[in-house]
Amino acid sequence: MATNRTLTMIKPNAVQKGLVGAILEKIAASGFRIVALKMTQLTVDDAKKFYDVHEGKSFYEDLYTFMSSGPIVAAVLEKDNAVEDFRSLVGATDPAAAAEGTLRKLYADSKSRNAVHGSDSDDNARIESSFHFSRRELFV
Ligand code: CMP
Repeated sequence: MATNRTLTMIKPNAVQKGLVGAILEKIAASGFRIVALKMTQLTVDDAKKFYDVHEGKSFYEDLYTFMSSGPIVAAVLEKDNAVEDFRSLVGATDPAAAAEGTLRKLYADSKSRNAVHGSDSDDNARIESSFHFSRRELFV
C-alpha cells in the first residue's frame, strides 16, 4: 500500500553548520507537514543497521562512521506522494549533479556528506520511520 509519509535525516555536517532551521523551512515551504521530529546521535551500531543495505560497498565504513560522528535531526514528513516528492526536493546523491534549488545543491558538501537523507521507497519509509520513532512520537 502506498503511503504519504517519508523519513528524512539532516546529517551531521548540516547540523554542525547550523543548517537545521534553513532546511526545515525549505521542507515546510515545499508542502511537507512534520509529523515527528527529534535531534539525536546514532551509535556506530545504529548507523551500521540503518544503512545495512550498503554493507560491502566501498563507502559503507565511511558512511556509518560519518553518520555516527555527531548529532542528526530525524523527521517523518507527510505529503501526497511524499517519497518521490521529497527525493525531488533533496536532489541527486552527488551535489555536483543535483538540480538548482534542491537541498543537496544548496547545502551538501560532497556525495558522502550530502546534508540530507530521504527514504527511497514507501517500504523503506516505513522501516526507517520505525527505526527512529515509536508510535507515540508520531503525530497525526
Ligand atoms: P543517503 O541518501 O543517505 O543514502 C545512502 C548514502 O550513502 C548516500 O546518501 C550517500 O551519502 C552515500 N553514498 C552513496 N553512494 C556513495 C558513493 N558512491 N560514495 C560515497 N558515498 C555514497
